Amino acid sequence: MEVIKLNRSIFQRILGKPATELPENNDFWSFTDSKITIKLSEANGLSKPDGAVRLEGKGLPNRIILVHGKKDQYQAYDNKCTHMGRRVDPVPGTETVQCCSVNCATFNQKGEVIDGPTKKPLKTHPVTLENDKLIITLN
Ligand code: FES
Repeated sequence: MEVIKLNRSIFQRILGKPATELPENNDFWSFTDSKITIKLSEANGLSKPDGAVRLEGKGLPNRIILVHGKKDQYQAYDNKCTHMGRRVDPVPGTETVQCCSVNCATFNQKGEVIDGPTKKPLKTHPVTLENDKLIITLN
């Protein structure tokens, strides 16, 4: 499988600056009992395939990135590269996520490593759609 790298500057990579920005507000999601509930119609970053939202804070045990994949499927990953812990971003058109650092560790939808300096998979979490809500159940 050919690995496509996100177009990021060397400075962004050295600083570990992810392409996926923090959302302007966090009102569209909540976290209770190991479940994250997202109001899909209010999650602007998820409106198109290859979009993503970063979920951080609110007592979450780990940073999460939620990606809108092809065919309106959604994948949730720990947003912490298993090499040195930098954040990851979706790579448009590839159904992969990639570390924002210089080494660009790349993972498939199952979180398996397909390129880069780590051998450990990225943790994934099941996502279900219930009416207008996405529910991520943390593993
Ligand atoms: S921290 Fe992700 S490749 Fe190094």
